Amino acid sequence: MASSRKLAPLAVALATIALVVTVTPCAAQKSVEDDVVDLHNAARADVGVKPVSWNNSLATYAESYAETRQDDCQLKFSDGPYGENLFWGAAGTNWTAADVVGLWVAQKQYYDHASNTCAAGKKCGAYTQVVWRGTTSIGCAAVVCSNEGGVFAICSYNPPGNLDGQSPY
Ligand SMILES: *[C@@H]1O[C@H](CO)[C@@H](O)[C@H](O)[C@H]1NC(C)=O
Ligand SMILES: *[C@@H]1O[C@H](CO)[C@@H](O)[C@H](O)[C@H]1NC(C)=O
Repeated sequence: MASSRKLAPLAVALATIALVVTVTPCAAQKSVEDDVVDLHNAARADVGVKPVSWNNSLATYAESYAETRQDDCQLKFSDGPYGENLFWGAAGTNWTAADVVGLWVAQKQYYDHASNTCAAGKKCGAYTQVVWRGTTSIGCAAVVCSNEGGVFAICSYNPPGNLDGQSPY
């Protein structure tokens, strides 16, 4: 898998798809990309925000970063130009797009729109990025961790969300 770093961007994008498919074997009809986009757009529609669409450049970026995290699978942000949500899941589960996006959307319970804050001691930034009105494109990737076989997943968002002092919607 590490060797895919040397492939051309298109091949990397295809490797991204293959990797995501290996952790979501039940997505028989719809593509994993469609699942990820649909899950985002359902959460966005719930708060009246326009849909996002898949962007292969973002997916290539996500795949490149996921590969750099493959050895440790730590939940560290890439500090790149895009918005970013991360996921780690332990080995032994066939993690699906619904698990990954669902974990982020579950933070909705901690987000108070009136005050635009998260509940004390809770995180809700992954959710606010999912529903960020100014974000129009996403691209995601997943790798199997080389240390213990868990899964590291990332979605990249453009334009990025979670800008200081702004409300997501
Ligand atoms: C995808 O995202 C990249 C990076 O933001 C951008 O340059 C490109 O125009 C986008 N492509 C499409 C088809 O929207
Ligand atoms: C994960 O998927 C593989 C391939 O379909 C299957 O063999 C395995 O039993 C599944 N594992 C779990 C924990 O569901």
